[in-house]
Amino acid sequence: MSARIIDGKTISADLRGKVADAVHRLRRDRGIVPGIAVVLVGNNPASEVYVRNKSKAVAEAGMHAFDRKLPATASEAELIDLIGKLNADKEINGILVQLPLPKQIGAQKIIAAIDPDKDVDGFHPLNAGRLASGLPALVPCTPMGCILLAKTVRETLAGLEAVVIGRSNIVGKPVAQLLLAENATVTIAHSKTNDLPAVCRRADLLVAAIGRPEMVRGDWIKPGATVIDVGINRIPGEGGKSRIVGDVAYPEAAKIAGAITPVPGGVGPMTIACLLLNTLRATCAQNGLPAPKV
Ligand code: GUN
Repeated sequence: MSARIIDGKTISADLRGKVADAVHRLRRDRGIVPGIAVVLVGNNPASEVYVRNKSKAVAEAGMHAFDRKLPATASEAELIDLIGKLNADKEINGILVQLPLPKQIGAQKIIAAIDPDKDVDGFHPLNAGRLASGLPALVPCTPMGCILLAKTVRETLAGLEAVVIGRSNIVGKPVAQLLLAENATVTIAHSKTNDLPAVCRRADLLVAAIGRPEMVRGDWIKPGATVIDVGINRIPGEGGKSRIVGDVAYPEAAKIAGAITPVPGGVGPMTIACLLLNTLRATCAQNGLPAPKV
């Protein structure tokens, strides 16, 4: 049997359309246009592509994108100064500082400088703590995308045995918190886990966020499981070209899993759609409006 393919492109396009409709209503009924500042420090080529894609998606959703660029030599103090200005700017409802940052700048310090109510990445310690405490929070975008994709396969995640491979602050830990909030039974596995394949074989829902190309093999997967692959890895392909693969060996896994996200076209497109949703939510909260129905 071959797994059902979880089509992140279509699911994210649907979500983006719903966010754009809600933004339209906000502008028409209240005269409010959500605004997001996307801050890029230096000229990491991958980051430049991400930032361009984000700004394009923000504009397509009817929101205002304020792009801010600092040179690779910028100091921590300069970036904190810029964030202070963005925090105080009423036109800006969301702030995203593209990671990674140059060596001389401490990412944790920068994240902590962002107003938690404008932290549309959901990386601020206050939002991480709120999420862990079951309080309303701005939630990291990729983890939110993983949950939305899993829910297109499973009506409820309650009671499922979920295994998350990876313990980063950006994906592994928050995705585990979100799964716990959905009443799944959650295991966080990582590079030091004993007998990782056996742990993965327990999973009804497997989330791979390790950053190692095709590490999860077909025989690590429980027959019929839902597999969410967060990995985006560039590896050498045919004819000197490179190609993108996930953290899961897709051709093998698709024979065993019940449903699986492809790479590309699975989790990736959900991240930007969830960023737009977070920006809309942050805008409503800052204006004393109820959470948008999306
Ligand atoms: N770099 C890679 N992914 C992300 C993300 O989701 N947010 C930010 N700010 N930087 C990133």
